[in-house]
Amino acid sequence: LASLEVHLSNIEPGTTVTVKWRGKPVFIRRRTEYDIKLANSVDIQSLLVGVCTHLECIPLPNAGDFGGWFCPCHGSHYDISSRIHKRPAPFNLEFLFTMWT
Ligand code: FES
Repeated sequence: LASLEVHLSNIEPGTTVTVKWRGKPVFIRRRTEYDIKLANSVDIQSLLVGVCTHLECIPLPNAGDFGGWFCPCHGSHYDISSRIHKRPAPFNLEFLFTMWT
């Protein structure tokens, strides 16, 4: 097992931190109030594997038509909850886990 330690209190709302875990980028995003309303969710921080589900490029945070991630390789758009909205990516970004704050 690989462990990862990240100080979440240092992440400002609206920003995304990328860390490496098991050789893959992992996105940790602290949602803003607007993000929470947009996602119709609770205040959570998500850890996502930062690898596009199409052909494994690394999506850009805070980008794309839905304010989440944009994969510049072939144009996939993910929303703030990592859901795919514009393909070709076939699946949502992979969740590691979610933390409620
Ligand atoms: Fe991301 Fe193709 S690898 S859209």
